[in-house]
Amino acid sequence: MANQFGGKWTKDKIETFVKYTKAYLEIMKDRPYFSLIYFDGFAGSGAIMQDGNDYDLLEGVAKQVLDIDQPRIFDIYYFVEKDQNNQTTLEAMVKSQYPNRNAFVVCNDCNNRLLTMAQFLNRPQNKKYKVLAFIDPYGMQVKWSSLEALKDLSIDMWILVPTGLGVTRLLKNNGEIEDSLMERLKTFLGLGSEEIKNYFYKSVSTTNLFGEDETLLVKERRIAQKAAELYRERLNSIFKHVSKPLQMTNSKGSIMYHFLMCSNNRVAAKIANDIVTPKFR
Ligand SMILES: C[S@@+](CC[C@H](N)C(=O)[O-])C[C@H]1O[C@@H](n2cnc3c(N)ncnc32)[C@H](O)[C@@H]1O
Repeated sequence: MANQFGGKWTKDKIETFVKYTKAYLEIMKDRPYFSLIYFDGFAGSGAIMQDGNDYDLLEGVAKQVLDIDQPRIFDIYYFVEKDQNNQTTLEAMVKSQYPNRNAFVVCNDCNNRLLTMAQFLNRPQNKKYKVLAFIDPYGMQVKWSSLEALKDLSIDMWILVPTGLGVTRLLKNNGEIEDSLMERLKTFLGLGSEEIKNYFYKSVSTTNLFGEDETLLVKERRIAQKAAELYRERLNSIFKHVSKPLQMTNSKGSIMYHFLMCSNNRVAAKIANDIVTPKFR
């Protein structure tokens, strides 16, 4: 079964990431002493069914990355997919179409596997490994604590951040956010509730109908952009460099996601910026 979601942003995202992956492998062809791992944290089933008047089947990123065989391939391909049906479909496709790739398709939560990978990379004997990670959730599944585990490691990570679809929708206009929703925001952003409220709301003093003074919380404007700025700043506390984001809007112009790259390597971030920038023109 193909995964069903998307819009024009899906194509832009895939194009951006595949372009970067090709540039990455081009640079790595002259560095054979590094072993390369491709880590796909939300791998899907291998194909994407796009919504629209016509059903349009897109090749998922997993397949497009496996298709790159020049100038070098990854030494290990590690796909993580939580849904059992998707994992089975993807695994069958990988085994039948790419039998010679050193590929693993596991059914698990990306957060668990990010932690396992961080432990692996932290071992002194594994310093030769470099990771290109693609983190492509459709919601707020990535825990901030999972990303924190990646600090100081050799990882270039592209991540899709649900700034409009996720964060904006949870931030109620009056600041009265249900406990369960606030917990989700805290886990996602790695911040406390006061920090979240102070960032996304301002206090406004007013007089109510009975002539009493009161202070109301009012949501700031441009919340999705503000969420992107915050997340980018937060990523910069883990990675030395964070690219400009690619902003993804739906057909009505509403922001859905921001897609960005983080790395401890300055050149990697420059390449990502060069790929993302033309999309602003
Ligand atoms: C946006 S889709 C990924 C599409 C894929 N990158 C592609 O190009 O075809 C998100 C996928 O993540 C899976 N998923 C959801 N939560 C997950 C989690 N916590 N860990 C791993 N996979 C998860 C979903 O089942 C879904 O297949």
